[in-house]
Amino acid sequence: MANNHFDVNPTTLPAWQELTKHASLLKEKRIETLFAENKLRNSNFSIKHKGFLLDYSKNLVTEEVLLSLFSLADQALLKDHTAAFFAGEKINTSEKKSAVHMALRGHKKDNYRSEGELIYGQIAYSLSKVKDISSKVRNGTWLGSTGRAITDVIHIGVGGSDLGPRMACQALRAHAHESINIHFISNADGSEILATIKTLDPETTLVIIASKSFSTLETMLNADTTMRWLQKSLGLKNPQSSTHVIAVTANKQKAASYGIDPSRTLEFEEWVGGRFSLWSSVGLSVSIYIGHDNFTHMLDGAREMDIHFNTAPYEHNLPVMLALISIWNNNFLNAHTCAVIPYCERLSLFPAYLQQLEMESNGKSVSLNNESLEYATSPIIWGKTGSDAQHAFFQLLHQGSHFVPVNFIGFINDKTSNKKHHDFLLGNLIAQSSALMIGRSNEELPMYQKQPGNNPSNTLLIDELTPSSFGALIALYEHKTFIQGSIWNINSFDQWGVELGKKMTENLLDTNKSLEFIDTSAQYLSLYIKEHTSS
Ligand code: F6P
Repeated sequence: MANNHFDVNPTTLPAWQELTKHASLLKEKRIETLFAENKLRNSNFSIKHKGFLLDYSKNLVTEEVLLSLFSLADQALLKDHTAAFFAGEKINTSEKKSAVHMALRGHKKDNYRSEGELIYGQIAYSLSKVKDISSKVRNGTWLGSTGRAITDVIHIGVGGSDLGPRMACQALRAHAHESINIHFISNADGSEILATIKTLDPETTLVIIASKSFSTLETMLNADTTMRWLQKSLGLKNPQSSTHVIAVTANKQKAASYGIDPSRTLEFEEWVGGRFSLWSSVGLSVSIYIGHDNFTHMLDGAREMDIHFNTAPYEHNLPVMLALISIWNNNFLNAHTCAVIPYCERLSLFPAYLQQLEMESNGKSVSLNNESLEYATSPIIWGKTGSDAQHAFFQLLHQGSHFVPVNFIGFINDKTSNKKHHDFLLGNLIAQSSALMIGRSNEELPMYQKQPGNNPSNTLLIDELTPSSFGALIALYEHKTFIQGSIWNINSFDQWGVELGKKMTENLLDTNKSLEFIDTSAQYLSLYIKEHTSS
């Protein structure tokens, strides 16, 4: 008997066997012929919801495949698991925590709980602190140690404490404050932070140190360097305790022992996973950059998507459909990679963001019941904005030897562009998805010009990139990730795989430890670096 009541091996389910049969029958089929067989395929294989259109017709799926995918979701207990997710049960089993980040964008009436406790009060309090600081920084009343207003914010964090806010600021830069600049520092590469501080005036700089654990080595390294700069340039003994520094963390003790004034420490809860923390106080930089009203619109857009996911039937449910099609491609058509191509330069960080969201969540090989899995889980997610990507790696999509489904994303209206550019951009999106499906096979063409086609893709068209639609887009992919993890029977909310590398770096850098504990290749490389380091 399984210890975890959601533990279901999907490969043992009748729907899995049905899908295996469908896949073997459909393997030789062309996607275009499915259009010829069903004149209503465009409308039957698409979902419209509040300014979003998901067209999934260009996949090798039939109505029978969809029904079996829905059965798979049911037999894998998706509805029960979703109910537990929204109810704030401890679905992060290895860390014994809930993962109810939807509560961060919830309203009081949504009555979100974590492990039974109502949590709206603490979330509203944290948000009010974000609003207060953001308004003061934006209206020039948050002053540095010499009495000057803030012109530059350095957000220091990594992974989930960086990617979400960094992407949001870039995506929503049309709403940026006209005289506050934002700089994101995540990499341990000193060249980044050193080049950044060189250009800044410390008197007018605010440093936000965002780290759930407040102990991530990269973040603390960048924070230390920045503190030394503030200390030296402003003559402050303890810059950490000045108005130049704010901590955002779930570990207020660590922030306090780093010297940050508790009144300038914004907290979020342990049940907020790092990669889901954009909606928490980690979003302070976003609120400062685009204004708190816009930040609230972003939360509201995400909340709309939460409601949609939790209430819409499978056939009209955007995240369910995206997740099930991804499982179909991954587990039944053996496409173990997936390209994401947003036709919008402001979403250039979206592929990187999704890499963390999907691959850190679902890059697992152990079941909820702690047994090793014999089927594929997260595909490798990668991508770049179109049209640039077309001139970089689309050759491989059109004629390469790997089978790569594509997710195209486009915005129908763009007030920041003009008609000429925008028509061209969207024309490219449509043409590429069509070329990938149809291919080119005229008899008279030489082999090197032929393109096999039959490459599946989804097209997500959104009315416009706004704070609200951006929030909904991110929540859509969060839920897609949850659904996939749920059907793959894994815990999408831990990340034990990153521990070993962190530990080994600590050991390697500990000068008191001999290098004998490490493998001979690592010893050789360390020695080589030592011998070739110029003094
Ligand atoms: O190394 C992975 C990770 O733990 C991510 O899950 C997390 O978002 C990131 O590091 C940063 O962690 P923290 O916010 O605790 O600094």
